[in-house]
Amino acid sequence: MRSTLVSLAAFALLAALPAWAQTSTISPDRIDAVIKSAFPNAPEDFKSRLLPDATMKDCTAHANNPPPAIAEAIQKSEAATIQYPPDGKFLGDWRKGEALAQSGYGLRFSDYPPTRANGGNCYACHQLTRQELSYGTVGPSLLEYGKLRDFKAEDAKTVYEKIYDPHVALACSLMPRFGSNKVLTIDQIKDIVALLMSPDSPVNK
Ligand code: HEC
Repeated sequence: MRSTLVSLAAFALLAALPAWAQTSTISPDRIDAVIKSAFPNAPEDFKSRLLPDATMKDCTAHANNPPPAIAEAIQKSEAATIQYPPDGKFLGDWRKGEALAQSGYGLRFSDYPPTRANGGNCYACHQLTRQELSYGTVGPSLLEYGKLRDFKAEDAKTVYEKIYDPHVALACSLMPRFGSNKVLTIDQIKDIVALLMSPDSPVNK
């Protein structure tokens, strides 16, 4: 009896949902068209961002879980976009990195025309320092990131690559491609690497 009631209730809920919410087969073209029409006044250099690139299309087509061959192809093409620091050094200034991690400035409508450098907005998704209590949890906590890795030089390189293009390590990462999509410069990425990997950084205290 109880289970009948539960399934009746579930059925009533389902019946109350609009038809589009009951089906998972909304055409991606329809979604693209709706998104495009929602931003009629997008600045010219903003428009390309309203359409998915090849990587995003592949990830969407496979609900972010592509078969190994496609995942590998994504990782390979994204890896080819990484530019390394000309001086071969991966650690910049962690103080500047902390300011960048805090800043969500850049690439929003209200930021056109830009008046200062873009930020990385890392706190929107990650915990980084004990001092900052306001952070998102979409990504894992990065507290003690360098300390847990014994501040190894090869890990500094890995972090640089992760920030430059997170799709190399995880084909359908939800993290923005800060270097490949020109959100941050090479020097800014080095400053953020220092925030994670320097023994003096508040991330590792
Ligand atoms: C929109 C949310 C989002 C933002 C913004 C974001 N990240 Fe991430 N990040 C994630 C998610 C989700 C993961 C876990 C999946 C993955 O590894 O891609 C992750 C993973 C990571 C990892 C790997 C963690 C590990 O297990 O080794 C590092 C390092 C990292 N992020 C650093 C950063 C830094 C630094 C910034 C700011 C420049 C940043 N992230 C901005 C969502 C985000």
